[in-house]
Amino acid sequence: MSSLLSGKTALVTGASSGLGARFATVLAAAGAHVVLAARRQDALDALAAQLRAAGGNAETRALDVTDSASVRAVVEATPGIDILVNNAGISIEKLVAEVTEDDYDAVMDTNLKGVWLMAQAVGRQMIARQQGGKIVNISSVLGQMVLTRLSVYAMAKAGVNQMTRALALEWARHDIEVNAIAPGYIRTEINRAFFDTEIGRKLIDRMLRRRVGEPEDLDAALLLLCGPGSRFITGSVLTVDDGQVLKGI
Ligand SMILES: NC(=O)c1ccc[n+]([C@@H]2O[C@H](COP(=O)([O-])OP(=O)(O)OC[C@H]3O[C@@H](n4cnc5c(N)ncnc54)[C@H](OP(=O)(O)O)[C@@H]3O)[C@@H](O)[C@H]2O)c1
Repeated sequence: MSSLLSGKTALVTGASSGLGARFATVLAAAGAHVVLAARRQDALDALAAQLRAAGGNAETRALDVTDSASVRAVVEATPGIDILVNNAGISIEKLVAEVTEDDYDAVMDTNLKGVWLMAQAVGRQMIARQQGGKIVNISSVLGQMVLTRLSVYAMAKAGVNQMTRALALEWARHDIEVNAIAPGYIRTEINRAFFDTEIGRKLIDRMLRRRVGEPEDLDAALLLLCGPGSRFITGSVLTVDDGQVLKGI
């Protein structure tokens, strides 16, 4: 049966939980051969088994995006990547005065340098293969606005937006579309505990529609940017946030 992404190989980083697990599931259902990558191999294996049981085509790779040797090894072990969903990320919530150098390095190394290392390694492979490709970086509304306790995270995501534009500019001639999705708050492991706190509940009350999203709220944006419908879209940061940025939170 032919479907939107049949014949395509998609590498999804941070596929062991949250949005990455959902992205991998959606791409597999759309017919892609999905390669799930993250540090927690057992979580990846469990999801891959689930996707295969549902008729999908999935395999796993242990990956630490902060380690350039790990990034290189995963990309070398995965020939023919058509789609990269550059999703792995962490957040550390602290006031500026409390952020340590280790906190700063962890957030920047994962959310900015890791995204760069992945995009560069996959982009090099795509350029050499001469078949074009799609790179979708997972940014955040915090790439365009700031909140207290998330300074370094917001700085990293602003960098991801600029990286998206810079790579799109250089790689258009290789038929590589580079775009980003900037989600608003979506309930996942990264923030589930936070939304159960009083500060978290107050934040939801300030949102335009007083709700956070669910991972499936990003499905349409993902399929647009990974599929043939985005051949004329590159360098875009697509905000998918239920109007959270419009109102301010
Ligand atoms: N949820 C939201 O509201 C929201 C909103 C805007 C943007 N985002 C962005 O969406 C992305 C996914 O977040 P999420 O909400 O799905 O969080 P999550 O459930 O905590 O997932 C984060 C994923 O990143 C992986 N990861 C973390 N460090 C890694 C490393 N060094 N190497 C490889 N993989 C690593 C984790 O896997 P392992 O621990 O197994 O390595 C996990 O699979 C992040 O970039 C986040 O900033 C989320």
